[in-house]
Amino acid sequence: MSDLNTGVAEIGLIGLGTMGGNLALNIAEHGFDIAVFNRTVDKTETFYKNAGELAPKVHPTKTLAELVAAIKAPRAIILMVPAGDAVDAQIEALRPLLDPSDLIIDAGNANYHDTRRRAEESLEKGPRFLGIGVSGGEEGARFGPSIMGGGAMDAWDQVGHILEAISAKHEGEPCAAHLGESGSGHLVKTVHNGIEYADMQMIAEVYGFMRDGMGMSAEDIGEVFEKWNEGILQSYLIEISAKVAKAKDPETGRPMLDIILDTAGQKGTGRWTAIEALMLGTPAGAIEAAVATRNMSARLDERKIGEGVFGSAPKTLAKDVITVDALEAALVAGKIVCYAQGFRVISEAAKQYEWSMPLPEIARIWRNGCIIRSAMLNDMASALAEDPNRNLMFAPFFSAKLKQTEDALRQVVALGALNGLPVPALSSGLSYFDVMRTERSTANMLQGQRDFFGAHGFERTDKDGGGYHGPWAMNTV
Ligand code: 6PG
Repeated sequence: MSDLNTGVAEIGLIGLGTMGGNLALNIAEHGFDIAVFNRTVDKTETFYKNAGELAPKVHPTKTLAELVAAIKAPRAIILMVPAGDAVDAQIEALRPLLDPSDLIIDAGNANYHDTRRRAEESLEKGPRFLGIGVSGGEEGARFGPSIMGGGAMDAWDQVGHILEAISAKHEGEPCAAHLGESGSGHLVKTVHNGIEYADMQMIAEVYGFMRDGMGMSAEDIGEVFEKWNEGILQSYLIEISAKVAKAKDPETGRPMLDIILDTAGQKGTGRWTAIEALMLGTPAGAIEAAVATRNMSARLDERKIGEGVFGSAPKTLAKDVITVDALEAALVAGKIVCYAQGFRVISEAAKQYEWSMPLPEIARIWRNGCIIRSAMLNDMASALAEDPNRNLMFAPFFSAKLKQTEDALRQVVALGALNGLPVPALSSGLSYFDVMRTERSTANMLQGQRDFFGAHGFERTDKDGGGYHGPWAMNTV
């Protein structure tokens, strides 16, 4: 435990990688003194040298003891180290140097189950612990991310003013908030990333329609995205898709998109969302499809063999069979469905852990700074404020939009199926929509089957209670 209280810094930060370094500069720029530490001292020195006019606010340190001594008590230290074991190792290393009233903040993409465990451990062993999800990539970290906090309120109160100051703003409102108990911030960040995967995948699917089905050039597709970004689909992801599509490879002069290899990586947060959705028993098929499709993309060798065996699908669509306006409408419908699923994952987790999670607040802090920021999130915030428990698809604003765009989504999914243009996330989204708007589903058949082979029993539509069986019991068949 440290008895030093000579520090001048209001906060400390460990891990000067791109995200950590940018976050530290953002904090310094907002007038807060920040002490920084990195495992390799060289990096700290280079960071300090490059801090420019912000250097007076930055206090570089060479050891953890120096870092701790440089921060005012009660201390707050942000960890920006790779998620997983490195976080535990860092907490262990800090613990003997800190007072129980100090605070460790994990700002990485942690699995929220780990965050819950770390928060439990901190109650026994100290110091206090706060998990925050930070979204916005490198630029967001430097100039204003969206920050999703989860943990004890007193922990948030200690640093909330700093986090709000450095966060992105939407019409002056900070895109940073305390969302609930320990783990809730990282769960929300995980679902943010799951939605990010689905949103990106659906954009990639309509790109595929334009490239392979309609024979459009990358440049022309970029123009379409640019136009969409002025309408209902206005979002960071559409904006960057336009830029990606229009960019030229400096080496060859060819469209960059035509040169990028089609195997997508992932660090795991999309998969965590799909796993959570399955564990919580809440459907998130569009997100699951997006994760699965990234996995398929990585199997390039297998796909090559597949094309060899089956030949390539016809793909090219008859002229005028589809318009870019229909693709835009299909994307609107798909987007509404995937956000409805994502918010459901969050509300189910909140129920399970008895978190007091403010759903409209989540939509509000996603309106700027984060990767999925979009105009539609503003309408989602309003719809969730009207009724946070209702499926987002049923809110008047979104049900009206779905009624307008449903046909286009059907057309795209049907044409995709008929012509071998893969649309896994959009078609999964359509299936969710169709199931969720059907009162009489086909699960009566499942119940009949289950009762037939396992005597699981069923409920009847014409009588109360459960445990009924069909006339196929062993002795009656
Ligand atoms: C963000 C991003 C960021 C990162 C993810 C996704 O919100 O700033 O989601 O966290 O891009 O790690 O990366 P993968 O696509 O590699 O899983």
